[in-house]
Amino acid sequence: DGFAAERLFNQGFSYTYDDVIFLPHYIDFPTESVQLATRLSRNVPLSIPCVSSPMDTVTESHMAAAMAALGGIGIIHSNLNPSDQAALVRSAKARRVPILSNPVFTSPSARIESMEDFGSNPYVLVTESGAAKSKLVGYVSRADWLKLPNKEVKIYDYMVNSSDFVPWDYDLERIGSYMDEKGKDVIGMVKDDEVVDLISTEEVERIKTYPKLGAGTVGPDGTWMVGAAAGTREQDKERLEYLVKAGINAVVLDSSQGNSIYQIEMIKYIKLTYPELDVVGGNVVTINQAQNLIQAGVDGLRVGMGSGSICTTQEVCAVGRGQATAVYKVASIASQSGVPVIADGGISFSGHVVKALALGASTVMMGSFLAGSTEAPGAYEYQNGHRVKKYRGMGSLEAMTKGSDARYLGDKAKLKIAQGVVGAVADKGSVLKFIPYTMQAVKQGFQDLGASSLQSAHDLLRSRVLRLEVRTGAAQVEGGVHGLISYEKKAF
Ligand code: XMP
Repeated sequence: DGFAAERLFNQGFSYTYDDVIFLPHYIDFPTESVQLATRLSRNVPLSIPCVSSPMDTVTESHMAAAMAALGGIGIIHSNLNPSDQAALVRSAKARRVPILSNPVFTSPSARIESMEDFGSNPYVLVTESGAAKSKLVGYVSRADWLKLPNKEVKIYDYMVNSSDFVPWDYDLERIGSYMDEKGKDVIGMVKDDEVVDLISTEEVERIKTYPKLGAGTVGPDGTWMVGAAAGTREQDKERLEYLVKAGINAVVLDSSQGNSIYQIEMIKYIKLTYPELDVVGGNVVTINQAQNLIQAGVDGLRVGMGSGSICTTQEVCAVGRGQATAVYKVASIASQSGVPVIADGGISFSGHVVKALALGASTVMMGSFLAGSTEAPGAYEYQNGHRVKKYRGMGSLEAMTKGSDARYLGDKAKLKIAQGVVGAVADKGSVLKFIPYTMQAVKQGFQDLGASSLQSAHDLLRSRVLRLEVRTGAAQVEGGVHGLISYEKKAF
């Protein structure tokens, strides 16, 4: 009944996730026993198959810390100068909680002149010297500053004195009970005599209401594992040096067409210079592209071209591939060398995650799925009454003007052609809440397939036990909600 993947994907069609559907198989285990543990790349184990995309509206420190806390991993984008990118990596690694407030520091003898001095934070931290690498003496809250009748007063006259802190590697539970014990509403977090952040009970309590987090992605040095993107130009070697010093666990070579002499040389250079560092190559969508990068020594392959929600590559450049076909084809060759595949782009629901993984991917990389979350960079805005966050393609003119053109342009191209758009996505709340629900849905999908782990799904696919079919247009309509005048889409 149905088709084996091998047959379905060899008929000359380019299929997206929505084009295909798996036939249910046999269930002989409960949902809870489905294991989603996996690898980003050869030496980066994860407990859930989720990766946040290196885009400047998706992954900075907060997202990277949250993804690691969930058991996935974040890849810090490279649309900024190398030392700033390295600082984002350090900041994500400088905590063992998925909390981040980008603290602003000041000295006791300074004055706060306007609300802007708080940045996006509810507090300004006061240290002896006014810098981060200095002793914490207290903090000022927005509310306290707003209440001041005379804004001319110096900070030491009204700040809350607090030299108490917790070490950076305390987890949420420990921080929570420490604050309870000491009766504190906010507390500093310190690493190597440097104030890393300020944590409030409100944040701790908020996160405690979310589904319990499993094992986080912690590296051998006890910090969160964090990945970072880099390009393949000569100057990227300097960027890499910064990133390696900051402790990255994997580098993702960020290119829309990865099968190039530039990338192959860069992969060889990295493997030679930093033998301990995992290199993810890409993007690729064909067996031939994948083979070249595998031969060059990649530890992981990123798959997708033009499947992203903000992508216009297929329209502009006439190249790409339907994402279901691309993932299946690349995974079929990568698995022979033990190279994990990252299915990058085109994930809108949990069903897409199930399809990507069952077709051979080890992880999914997501942009739009995560961009509306609390942890994504940028502030919420309102559009037609909806709370949204900006989400833009790294090949959009706006992002390229800021510097990401290396991903989409030849070395010296002077004319910029956009391969992406700028848009906005709806507020989704915290990834710490909706990713656990998404993973539960993925486990149910795996159970329906009779696959109790990613490896078992891959084995069932290759042994032709898993069967698929192409959905007609009408079947796709039928497979979604239809025939209702109105409905509310709430998954949890
Ligand atoms: P989703 O569907 O998760 O896709 O939003 C995220 C992925 O899209 C890729 N990307 C782009 N592709 N033009 C493109 O053709 C762009 O401007 C662009 N920006 C990001 C990237 O692979 C990302 O992970």
